[in-house]
Amino acid sequence: MTALYRLQREADLTKRNTFGVPARAPWLLEVNDLSTLGEALDLPQLRGLPLLMLGGGSNLLFAGDAPGAVLALGASALAVVADEGERVRVRAEAGANWHALVMWSLDQGLCGLENLALIPGSVGAAPIQNIGAYGVEVGDRIVAVEAWDRQAGSRVRLDREACAFGYRDSAFKRDPERWIVTAVEFELLRPRTPTEAPLRLDYAGIGEELAAAGVQAPSARDVAGAVIRIRQRKLPDPARIGNAGSFFKNPIVTVELAETLRAEHPRLPVFPGDAEPNRKLSAAWLIDACGWKGARRGDAGVSDAHALVLVNHGAASGTQLLELARAIAASVHERFGVALEPEPRVIGARW
Ligand code: EPU
Repeated sequence: MTALYRLQREADLTKRNTFGVPARAPWLLEVNDLSTLGEALDLPQLRGLPLLMLGGGSNLLFAGDAPGAVLALGASALAVVADEGERVRVRAEAGANWHALVMWSLDQGLCGLENLALIPGSVGAAPIQNIGAYGVEVGDRIVAVEAWDRQAGSRVRLDREACAFGYRDSAFKRDPERWIVTAVEFELLRPRTPTEAPLRLDYAGIGEELAAAGVQAPSARDVAGAVIRIRQRKLPDPARIGNAGSFFKNPIVTVELAETLRAEHPRLPVFPGDAEPNRKLSAAWLIDACGWKGARRGDAGVSDAHALVLVNHGAASGTQLLELARAIAASVHERFGVALEPEPRVIGARW
């Protein structure tokens, strides 16, 4: 039987971060049954220590060891909790694998998560950075997030508004010391027939990918298939080469700066920003234009498939990756006057 929770001293985190950089934690707490979370967090060994929540380890860079305890949630149940025919609510526990949830929802005949196929990481991490791809952000599909509020010492349920989702941002990301996401509730749709699903096809090559596969009336599963193929082509697989997906957020700039840069560089991709009159630029394009794609400093490198992805060729340390990231950001700033910010959480150093 799996223990309800388990506390381990001096844990090695190398295999628990998708960059695969060496890191350790004084304590690792694994909780498999959410009803015991409060009791486990109250263990005398952990009192007063900083706590780092670890999901799939796909959105952080260890530039040092974890300062206190690391918490990993093993609870991973997936269930339909309300079914009104066309609208269906699904609840997923934080420890479930994100892509497994996407495929499970398609198996239930549900649509809404297909554009988010193959994103690495856990369900619990998804709302924290409001994962997004191919025109959909997970916050669009979430109705509520269940969390442990460390300030109040109790379980809470936050509706979508309280989650305050933004571009790769949320209330949980802004206050990581306070929240432990324990489960997520989604509202998904069940189309009457597979090809009647309301699909988002207008973004970054999905339409072209479906056309190339000869699909004329796509289902949600077809869209997931297209997304999987595009991601496999464009993004390095963390199981084969250490990485954390996009290392930088696409920068939000004023419309004036976007227009000035566009006049000088007509090929620069410019997207709508978070709110008018802001614009979002392509960080990958800026980095590529500075000549970084495929660059390498020791074992820390930039993917040759996508300029936004930093990779560990084998023995890079977190500090080496962070130094490379800083050098990239400095050259983009010097050439374009645009500040890049990392997307993953950096542990043990300031950006
Ligand atoms: N581009 C380059 N060089 C490259 C790669 C891309 O110049 O090496 C340019 C191209 O012009 C391309 C544009 O950048 O059209 C945008 O590239 P892409 O479609 O790959 O999207 P992205 O903006 O780089 C974002 C997300 C990805 C998500 C894709 C698809 C962020 C930080 N990243 O990348 O999310 O999969 O869109 O929707 O918003 C992640 O967050 O880890 C992630 C992989």
